Amino acid sequence: MQELKFPNKFLWGAATSAHQVEGDNSNNDWWQAENQGLLSHPARDAADHYNRFAQDFDLARELGHNAHRLSIEWSRIEPKPGQFDEQATRHYRRVLLYLREHGIEPIVTLHHFTNPIWFAEICGWENKNSPEIFARYVAYCNEHFGDYIKWWVTINEPTVYVLQGYFMGVWPPFQKNVPKGIKVLWNMAKAHRAAYRVLKKLSDGHKENFVSIAHNMAAYVPARQNNPIEKILASIIGYFSNDYFLRLIKKHYDYIGLNYYMVKRVHFNGKINFFIPQSSAKTDMGWEIAPLGLLQVLRHLPKYKKPILITENGLADAKDDRRWPFILNHLLMVHTAITEGVDVRGYLHWSLMDNLELAEGFGPRFGLIKINYDNQAREIRESARKYASIIKKNAIPVETIQPLLENNKYYPEVLRRYLQNIIRIKPQS
Ligand code: BGC
Repeated sequence: MQELKFPNKFLWGAATSAHQVEGDNSNNDWWQAENQGLLSHPARDAADHYNRFAQDFDLARELGHNAHRLSIEWSRIEPKPGQFDEQATRHYRRVLLYLREHGIEPIVTLHHFTNPIWFAEICGWENKNSPEIFARYVAYCNEHFGDYIKWWVTINEPTVYVLQGYFMGVWPPFQKNVPKGIKVLWNMAKAHRAAYRVLKKLSDGHKENFVSIAHNMAAYVPARQNNPIEKILASIIGYFSNDYFLRLIKKHYDYIGLNYYMVKRVHFNGKINFFIPQSSAKTDMGWEIAPLGLLQVLRHLPKYKKPILITENGLADAKDDRRWPFILNHLLMVHTAITEGVDVRGYLHWSLMDNLELAEGFGPRFGLIKINYDNQAREIRESARKYASIIKKNAIPVETIQPLLENNKYYPEVLRRYLQNIIRIKPQS
């Protein structure tokens, strides 16, 4: 049987973030905003992952995952400036040890959108001292968790944080102030560079490590292929969204953490907007399902000469009727990129379990594992088992592609042709 093999030691798994799954993160700015009615959905217990992590990781293991991306909640570790919490520290050490003992490589994020309230009160990332303040917390984490961690993500999606929090004003701190947003982006870059230097100081018992950010990169394309203005706009917006931050942190990352979700079709009719063809398949969030865009982004990255870890890729799909073809198609793109020489080290699906989708609340269902929020019961989704079958083989069996061709309900013609091509290049034996 013909298989599309992945490299040895490929990291397979899923990702989560503390505020979205743990529950009871009452000391951060999101919780505060939720309870002031500025966000319509309080996190409350979320998926109660803080207490149920062992159960959740057992399920991940059952699904063959050998890696898991999680975040440490800064507001738990440092509840007051410069004061660190021993109980929270012990908790995360237990979490990390549990992962290690179960053969799951932890990929650890230190900042995933939420800030301690005290930090938000001193103007958060607008504060010129924010890089040093963050670096102090990072040094504590390195000292207390570094012996368990090889893969670090300092900050999740700085560009998205700024876009949502400072340009659109829909996430804390709800500002619509572009100059401030740019200042915040620069401070985050500075904070990352400082954190990088801290984390590269390995103390006793610490292994070699890989440090980066998780960077949201979409595929920017002109809405009309031959429209010269849209072409130029797509490359300018693409530069500022995808490349600019990597330039800011130049020489301060060991790999590229890639969060890929979508294609952005740049449309211009006097004003810029993003176009989604009516016929295209969409997630429950209304995002276009666009696996080819992942290939476009992966092909763009080798110029940075660093390995790539896909730190997030996923969809909201409550019915679980698109998740499996979504995963399969995206993995086909990853595999194609690898055969072209792109150094991809792993794939982490967003998300291990249903969670609080930020400002959208608990409606969108991103999980490989379904959560019943009435009783916190867990249930593995069918798509997760199919993903597990790929993990188990470390390969995509070619016969799994055929059904995609027969049922192209969710996939545009271009992808169909592409898949046919793969089969032609690699005929079944
Ligand atoms: C974020 C996650 C979020 C996901 C889906 C990513 O950009 O890192 O926190 O839940 O997108 O919207």
